[in-house]
Amino acid sequence: MVSTPSLEVQATARQYLADATADGRSPNQELLPLTTCVNDRDCLEIGGCDVATLVEQFGSPLYILDETTLRTACVQYREAFRRYYPGESQVLYASKAWNCLAICAIVASEGLGIDVVSGGELYTALQAGVSGEKLYLHGNNKSREELQQAIAANARIVVDNWYELETLAELTRGATHPAAILLRLTPGIECHTHEYIRTGHLDSKFGFDPDSIEAVFEFVRQQPSLAGIGLHAHIGSQIFEIQPHRDLAKVMVKWLQLAARYDIPVAELNVGGGLGIRYTESDDPPSIDEWAKVVGEAIAAACQEAGIPLPKLLCEPGRSIVGSACVTAYTVGSSKTVPGIRTYVTVDGGMSDNPRPITYQSLYRAVVANRMSAPLTETVTLAGKHCESGDVLIQNARLPKTEPGDILVVMGTGAYNYSMSSNYNRLPRPAAVLVGDGEASLILQRETDRDLIRQDRLPARLRLQSS
Ligand code: LLP
Repeated sequence: MVSTPSLEVQATARQYLADATADGRSPNQELLPLTTCVNDRDCLEIGGCDVATLVEQFGSPLYILDETTLRTACVQYREAFRRYYPGESQVLYASKAWNCLAICAIVASEGLGIDVVSGGELYTALQAGVSGEKLYLHGNNKSREELQQAIAANARIVVDNWYELETLAELTRGATHPAAILLRLTPGIECHTHEYIRTGHLDSKFGFDPDSIEAVFEFVRQQPSLAGIGLHAHIGSQIFEIQPHRDLAKVMVKWLQLAARYDIPVAELNVGGGLGIRYTESDDPPSIDEWAKVVGEAIAAACQEAGIPLPKLLCEPGRSIVGSACVTAYTVGSSKTVPGIRTYVTVDGGMSDNPRPITYQSLYRAVVANRMSAPLTETVTLAGKHCESGDVLIQNARLPKTEPGDILVVMGTGAYNYSMSSNYNRLPRPAAVLVGDGEASLILQRETDRDLIRQDRLPARLRLQSS
């Protein structure tokens, strides 16, 4: 008897492709990079490069970053702020999402400044050629060295707490030019996202408590070596709601008015980042354009209502700039079926190159890149290769029947994957390639076994005698 396959069984990985004819697509609303298509070998192609060929050339696992998608996100943010905010604006890229030389250089070439959160991120951005005045140093426990590094580079410092404020006053005492600082305040705004990535509620380790705001302003006013040029707040990450950003605008403009009473000429208002991206079909974040419209219009309206001039408006998105621009390609290896329970399919990476599923129970989608039209007949647990049962990239992944050697692509891995990667189990970090116009350029070299022991030292007394 011939049975007709159900519609679901007939579905293929092609369903994840966006409608290529839809212009002005917002990268954060797509599962795959904007240039993705299926080529005549039935293979996934990104930036004009065949993914299976990239893996042959650069090895596996491999981060594949699409230059068009990354640049499009930068341009959409930049242009939307120009369109919807009548004052001056500056978009910063929150480089904690993925900080490396090539990405810093690309976003800076699109006119973005960069938010850095450590001496290491600051150093990388400077090495990429980004000018110090376009860098903003964040962090809730910056060291004296990091503060000095920022002062020397002429970077802006986003001051998080009293200890830092007092340290900075001491470090800059007698300086010829005052250091430009922004004050980070906790706005007391709740939003719906994972509790680890919520930052705007009052019980947060970041920022000055709003109750201390007047004392902070008074302190800054008395320091000739500190120029309190801005105020900052950030409410959280992977946010789909719009209302918290409207609420934030009102709160921040109130702070602006208060700063004026202390004669602090606050010129910059930084509303943080937080716009979410689409990791699965059911994720429906606002577009970059919609987000910028809400933020820009809300700040402008609140300033108008308060009768104060428009500050320079800053925002610092990370995930929505780089998240959807990258996929990770893995090679399928072993599999195991536990009868009546589940089938495990294992790839050659996992929690060391993408710690988000094990850390936040984040959801991802995957395709078998070398057989894009194959019907999705299996539901499997896509496991990583680490010695840890929780090392699962995707539960219940809908895939075609896989074979060892298949190229499995996990989507939406640009943000907080490489930047949070580790060498757990002494796995070398994957390489990353930048693709565009059919060309692939290496932007991060694959780590080698030698790299893994580069910092190891073996004291002479521990050397083993070879028999
Ligand atoms: N500004 C500040 C002060 C931040 O703390 C963050 C993110 C951003 C901007 C950028 O937020 P985004 O636009 O990327 O949402 N590792 C977590 C995310 C941690 C976010 C930390 N702060 C994850 O993998 O989901």
